[in-house]
Amino acid sequence: MITSTDTGTLRIITAEDEHLAHNYHPLPVVISRGEGAWVTDVEGKRYLDLLSAYSALNFGHGHPAILAAAREQLDRLTLTSRAYHNDRLGPFAAALAELCGKDLVLPMNTGAEAVETGIKVARAWAYRVKGVAPDAAKIIVANGNFHGRTTTIVGFSDDPVAYEGFGPYAPGFVHVPFGDAAAIEAAIDENTAAVLIEPIQGEAGVVIPPEGYLRAVRELCTARGVLFIADEIQSGLGRVGTTFACDREGVVPDVYLLGKALGGGILPLSAVVANRDVLGVIRPGEHGSTFGGNPLAAAVGLQVVEMLASGEFQTRAAALGEHLAARLEALLGHGVTAVRVAGLWAGVDIDPAVGTGREVAERMLARGVLVKDTHGQTIRLAPPLVVRGTELDWAVEQLRHVLSV
Ligand SMILES: Cc1ncc(COP(=O)(O)O)c(C=O)c1O
Repeated sequence: MITSTDTGTLRIITAEDEHLAHNYHPLPVVISRGEGAWVTDVEGKRYLDLLSAYSALNFGHGHPAILAAAREQLDRLTLTSRAYHNDRLGPFAAALAELCGKDLVLPMNTGAEAVETGIKVARAWAYRVKGVAPDAAKIIVANGNFHGRTTTIVGFSDDPVAYEGFGPYAPGFVHVPFGDAAAIEAAIDENTAAVLIEPIQGEAGVVIPPEGYLRAVRELCTARGVLFIADEIQSGLGRVGTTFACDREGVVPDVYLLGKALGGGILPLSAVVANRDVLGVIRPGEHGSTFGGNPLAAAVGLQVVEMLASGEFQTRAAALGEHLAARLEALLGHGVTAVRVAGLWAGVDIDPAVGTGREVAERMLARGVLVKDTHGQTIRLAPPLVVRGTELDWAVEQLRHVLSV
């Protein structure tokens, strides 16, 4: 990709290669500024960012209202730990609970922590409310899942790249095919605490389950006394044209797991949101995090929730998503074998005859568009929700060019 041996980009990448663990394989670009849907590299070249930090930048780079909330809070108070109260956490929790239509919020930092917290809550609920025998609780998960990188979470991934070499794995998880409600029904027994799924599987390549699946999961969980935990860390907060991906089927899970965009693209902020009969099982001292619920994150999160409460971003994602879908579908048969779109979120399967997902991402980079490959032949598009229709048109035009190489 980079041919000159004398660029700032190459110098920085070489330094990274010497001193950074190789847990990522980044595209060869070094970004130093961002504004809205655009970023600029160290040499001044601009790129349209169609990845949005894996949907953590739903509101774009440097959204003025989010920056203002952060700046104002930076000058007042940033961290207390939960050993004391702080004056930002209560308003944030109240606003987020209202957005979710739930009673309680448990704030954490990263997505994986929210998932771990959801697992603990489900197990505690199973033992303390449902009456499951000690250490017998089971959680049903879907094949193709991606819920994060902790040892427990990778232990129930079925992707060898995620789990191989990191065992022994925590027991208590049962796999079923994604999109198959009958398989969940067959897997539920008296020890089942929860069904944990992504309503749309992001890392798997924006895999959308068949219509009716989420409703069936909701009905099954209610009928069988099992918690429905929706991991909306990537799919939630406006991305798919509704506040949550579960809204697409008019479904409310028992537990929302939220993260990424909740932190406004500024800092890590995640949360578990549920009603008191579920989240109330956690007692003082049983769970926590030094940074979870810090006033800086709470101030940013409050601003994010207020922006979502207006519905403006959801409406924009829905309208622009239809626009994007029409343009991507026109590429079917022209280097693209399948397109899956939900709001402003798209998985595009690349015909191996024109290259791998990585090769397409590198060719797009050369044309000033940032996208990321996933699972070999797929590229994922998750533009900031502030992107313009004309910018999407231009990006799809670049894709058409790189596919015809
Ligand atoms: C659905 C889902 N859950 C959890 C996570 C983990 O989030 P984090 O990387 O913040 O730990 C991700 C990250 O991509 C995700 O997509």
